[in-house]
Amino acid sequence: MITGFHKKLIESLTDVGVPRFNLAHEQLMGIIIDADVIIGAILVDERSPTQEEWHTLSDLCDELVSYTKLHFNDEISYLINKSYPNARIHQEVHQALIEDLNTLRAQINGQSDEKLKEMRKWLLEWLLNHVNHEDKAYAKHFSKM
Ligand SMILES: [Fe+2]
Ligand SMILES: [Fe+2]
Repeated sequence: MITGFHKKLIESLTDVGVPRFNLAHEQLMGIIIDADVIIGAILVDERSPTQEEWHTLSDLCDELVSYTKLHFNDEISYLINKSYPNARIHQEVHQALIEDLNTLRAQINGQSDEKLKEMRKWLLEWLLNHVNHEDKAYAKHFSKM
């Protein structure tokens, strides 16, 4: 079930001034929420995920990784085209996040039950942190021009 907390997560995403990027952030958050709904139900019941749930989580994670890569590439091209001074650093931050997402994917594919709480926490935080700090920084930079 999508909760008020989930709706707030979407509402908390900073407007970065580029409509297609805002949309991508919302769509990425949508995938995260879909995974969180599943993980939340498992944790409430204090049980292990079923095989079907692991598969759904794995599919969502694949979708998240590929969609994140598309968005990151689009964002970096935009930042480079607009001569954003921190484009390279931003790209490195993206790269580190992709590595973290791949770690998450490996944990899901390895069906690491014991990591479920930790995975959930990280999953809920990474996008909002990135959008509301590093992405917000370019939005601020361009809004002053
Ligand atoms: Fe972004
Ligand atoms: Fe970014």
